[in-house]
Amino acid sequence: ALLGSAAAHTWPERTTRLAPNGTMVGNPGFERSHHPRGSLDENKQVWLLPPNGGAKVFLSDAKITREDQRTLTDSSYSKDFPMLNVAPGDFVAIQYTENGHVTRSESMPNQPRPVNRGTVYVYGTTENDLSNSNLIDIHLKWTADGTGGNKQGKLLATRNYDDGQCHEAMSAAGDPVGISKYRFQNFNSGDGGLSCQTDFQIPTDIAVGKTLTVIWVWDWPVMSEAGVAVTPASYNANSSTSGKPYVVLPELYTGVVDYKIVDPCDDSLGSVRGPTCKAANGKFVVQFAKQPNIAVAAIKSHMMNPFLVQVPQAGFAVSEATADLTDIPLGALVGVKDPKLPLDNSILAANANGGDSANKPPPQPSPSPSPAAPPPPASSKAASPTPASSKAGSSPKPSSAPSASPRPADDDDVLTVTVTVPETTIFITSTRTP
Ligand SMILES: *[C@@H]1O[C@H](CO)[C@@H](O)[C@H](O)[C@H]1NC(C)=O
Ligand SMILES: *[C@@H]1O[C@H](CO)[C@@H](O)[C@H](O)[C@H]1NC(C)=O
Repeated sequence: ALLGSAAAHTWPERTTRLAPNGTMVGNPGFERSHHPRGSLDENKQVWLLPPNGGAKVFLSDAKITREDQRTLTDSSYSKDFPMLNVAPGDFVAIQYTENGHVTRSESMPNQPRPVNRGTVYVYGTTENDLSNSNLIDIHLKWTADGTGGNKQGKLLATRNYDDGQCHEAMSAAGDPVGISKYRFQNFNSGDGGLSCQTDFQIPTDIAVGKTLTVIWVWDWPVMSEAGVAVTPASYNANSSTSGKPYVVLPELYTGVVDYKIVDPCDDSLGSVRGPTCKAANGKFVVQFAKQPNIAVAAIKSHMMNPFLVQVPQAGFAVSEATADLTDIPLGALVGVKDPKLPLDNSILAANANGGDSANKPPPQPSPSPSPAAPPPPASSKAASPTPASSKAGSSPKPSSAPSASPRPADDDDVLTVTVTVPETTIFITSTRTP
């Protein structure tokens, strides 16, 4: 049932601006050539790579998006499904339905997936025509600094597909893993289910009048074993001889969402203007407040940390993807080969609410990011900001490592972020008060 039909897959369904306090504001925008849920046509809603499932190889000319998302035309958006207006530096949420890929993963032990339910990569470009854009020229090639691959775009964010709180309404298939029930109790949006989100920041230096094309890539492989933290960030993770867990079957889904970049003080933005609209005094205070309505609340860690999954493409001195264990929802499953179902409450609570990284400064990428560059010398690894012992890469966590500490779902931290805006650069510092 999990893999049966288009309705059981995932694509970006809508996108919304986020006020600086983490509340979704204004009417949503949609993806390029949106097809509403329920209008079932697999080829029009989802784009699976490699095609047909079961194929192990990405063809060099396989396009990164489905056919009706390759070009941006007058009919790509409509009155009912418009493109979203945003300002430079705005935060936005892309929402999608998990369809069991979060809540029932452990019920398919013969298809072990990464604990984070795969990694979402957010790529941005102002080249809006994707008709000649091949998956392998963009995914794992474009870098955060824009120097990767054909240099036509950037990696804007990496996310855990599981945002820590999303869940589908309890289905006829029941809740063998226990996640739906736990999240229904702790993250109840009122209608029995809660969409997942990928929140990220529109580049601060993008020119008003441009259209930003965002390519959302969910990299969700079947791994050689259960308990692997995150998707490896390479195409070379295909070896049973390396002794490490490896990708048995690659599986990716992609979608395209465009954003019209408007003046930060534009009326179309409504009462919440863009962050640089207040640049007159050089300061704009961002405060994440706990939202009474979880259905319109952003994920705090997403607003604090662009790269929750640390990949070489974002400039981190790592050879494969890794993540802070405390950033991975359900992180207590990392290294666990055969979890007992339903999952224990301590596992369900581990790093719920989008992970823990909102409570500490985000790790800084190393100064010279380039995945094409030779591996960094050992000394630069030592300078890596987070001690290796707290990381959870492709290798399972040793059983002696401390498990991720549960984080109460109802904590009401206030996180104050001060954004200083001299022309095109935004510096963010954060302090946390109880
Ligand atoms: C992965 O390994 C299999 C078996 O050796 C091989 O057929 C396949 O081409 C490899 N896939 C990639 C993406 O390298
Ligand atoms: C967050 O900001 C929005 C827009 O200014 C406002 O409508 C909302 O009430 C605020 N929410 C909280 C919880 O402070």
